[in-house]
Amino acid sequence: RTAELDSICHKAEVIPVITIERIEDAVPLGRALVEGGLSVLEITLRTDCALEAIKRMKKELTGASIGVGTVLTPAQYRQAEEVGADFVVTPGATEALYRYGIESPVPMLPGVSTVSELMTGWQYGYRRFKFFPAESSGGAKALKAFGGPIPGAQFCPTGGITVDNAESYLSLPNVMCVGGSWLTPSKLVEAEDWDGIRKLAQEVAERFHR
Ligand code: 3PG
Repeated sequence: RTAELDSICHKAEVIPVITIERIEDAVPLGRALVEGGLSVLEITLRTDCALEAIKRMKKELTGASIGVGTVLTPAQYRQAEEVGADFVVTPGATEALYRYGIESPVPMLPGVSTVSELMTGWQYGYRRFKFFPAESSGGAKALKAFGGPIPGAQFCPTGGITVDNAESYLSLPNVMCVGGSWLTPSKLVEAEDWDGIRKLAQEVAERFHR
């Protein structure tokens, strides 16, 4: 599981966290990001069309890794499996999710924001986590401190990450990538400005390339 998540997360320093409002945006938006150089995407289950969007993106965006985010329950985890998710991301983690994730063929990146939560996930055998909400949970300083007691855990921080603070996380030894919604500004998406999205992705991919 850990190796599988590593191979996905190391494909991109930055993972766009995408909420699809209009189903017809899914494929062109995803394609713009992938063409710009960001080939790992997280689609949140926050809208009615999310599952259909993921299905279409899986079919059309060959070479991309598609994660399903905002998974709150094992039932949603199952839905993510059914639409072909490459990985599952949760904002926090429950015992039910941890147990489900161990048995699932699709790896999970559980969300944690404290050392206690991290210890629970660690006990279940998880080694890769989402740090959420990163900026309001102590930011890069907190994450750096997590590396003291549990140096083997690696994180994808999200929540309040921007082009200006991404580097403060990416420079930490326990950060594998960062995520966020800043790659899909609603102004560009609403205007269907796929060229604008592609350029933004390109700038970000070049700037944070390691
Ligand atoms: C997430 O689920 O990871 C967040 O909604 C992304 O946070 P952001 O909108 O602050 O980037």
